[in-house]
Amino acid sequence: MKLLDRLQNRPRIFNLLHRLGLASARSQTSAAERACLCRHVAEAGVAVEIGTFMGVTAAELARSLRSDAVLYCVDPYLDGQAIQAIAMRHLGRKRVLGKVRMIQATAEDALGQLPAQVDFIFVDGDHSFEGLCKDWDVVKKLLRPGGIAAFHDVNPQPGLRVNCEGAIRCFDEVIRHDPGFRLVETCESLQVLVRGSHGS
Ligand SMILES: C[S@@+](CC[C@H](N)C(=O)[O-])C[C@H]1O[C@@H](n2cnc3c(N)ncnc32)[C@H](O)[C@@H]1O
Repeated sequence: MKLLDRLQNRPRIFNLLHRLGLASARSQTSAAERACLCRHVAEAGVAVEIGTFMGVTAAELARSLRSDAVLYCVDPYLDGQAIQAIAMRHLGRKRVLGKVRMIQATAEDALGQLPAQVDFIFVDGDHSFEGLCKDWDVVKKLLRPGGIAAFHDVNPQPGLRVNCEGAIRCFDEVIRHDPGFRLVETCESLQVLVRGSHGS
């Protein structure tokens, strides 16, 4: 394993290296997955990312949004402020901070701080079965009819992190069968659904 990969688990050191320009923000989303998300977010006026980490996908989503649109980035940053600092710096360097509102909370706890209806949600937070089920409840509360919900790490792929099994099971047993939503695209580990025009 390369030194920088190992240092990613030492957030304060990684933050220092990022500040000095010696390390880049990291993401587990692939370029193809980010391109897919950016196509689906393009028409949104209000978008949400659940689980922002270092802000790599958030920056691309924000850049794809209309100039008057807003991206809410929701993450509790339970491991301390260093990862959040990297995310803020990365979004600043990509010149998209003006379109982003950062909420430091779990998706469930952020509900009161989010608009009542949103156009797009990217779910990439807690990958346990219970965690994704909670985020699915948040999606159903917030997403407008016709809106897009995208879920990361729910379509098994070679090399997918082992701790995604709960999320895969929640998607297969619960989310996939909701009659109010329809699968519109699969890209690697990503599944993209549209909410029916009457909601569910
Ligand atoms: C896989 S990373 C997200 C990666 C990011 N979406 C990207 O594309 O680079 C998961 C993140 O979810 C956050 N998280 C964990 N539980 C969460 C929850 N209940 N609500 C929101 N975010 C959560 C973690 O703090 C972590 O930063």
